[in-house]
Amino acid sequence: MKHALMAALIGTSTLLASGTAFAQAKPEDVIKYRKSVYTVAAWHMRPLGAMVKGQMPFDQAVFLKNAETVANMASVAPEAFAAGSDKGAETRAKPEIWSDAAGFKKVMDNFQAESAKLVQVAKTAKDVDAVRGQFASLGKACAACHDNYRTK
Ligand code: HEC
Repeated sequence: MKHALMAALIGTSTLLASGTAFAQAKPEDVIKYRKSVYTVAAWHMRPLGAMVKGQMPFDQAVFLKNAETVANMASVAPEAFAAGSDKGAETRAKPEIWSDAAGFKKVMDNFQAESAKLVQVAKTAKDVDAVRGQFASLGKACAACHDNYRTK
């Protein structure tokens, strides 16, 4: 009983400590993380695009794995826009990300939905035609955000 309570207390304080560390992340670290998230996403979009364009043979397992990684990046992407990370290092993130939070949330939600949908479609895809349309939709979700919230 005593042990369980101790374990619970230690667990809670560890959680609080990491939460605090996260909340206090330096803007330059958030920006570095942000660029990394999108670099990873773009890297995993490449084989998807190559398969869709017929530059690489369609392999359902490879397609699914890469699509899952893009979806995972989409799911963590909101963390990459922590308050205060509008400056602190070179960044192409526009101030509108924070001043138009509702509009930004919309394109972020869309990114998450479209990437998750690509994973779903990829799970049962028998050929590249099964994923072509959803891959294009995901590409549009990238562009929808870049067009409005990333500087040229
Ligand atoms: C919700 C908004 C949003 C979505 C969706 C989005 N991006 Fe971005 N992306 C950004 C912003 C903002 C930056 C600029 C980051 C910075 O400079 O701090 C960026 C930067 C990038 C970069 C440059 C990273 C670097 O090293 O500077 C690449 C590559 C990229 N995005 C690719 C993609 C791809 C591919 C997708 C879709 C799979 C995507 N992005 C979806 C907002 C978005």
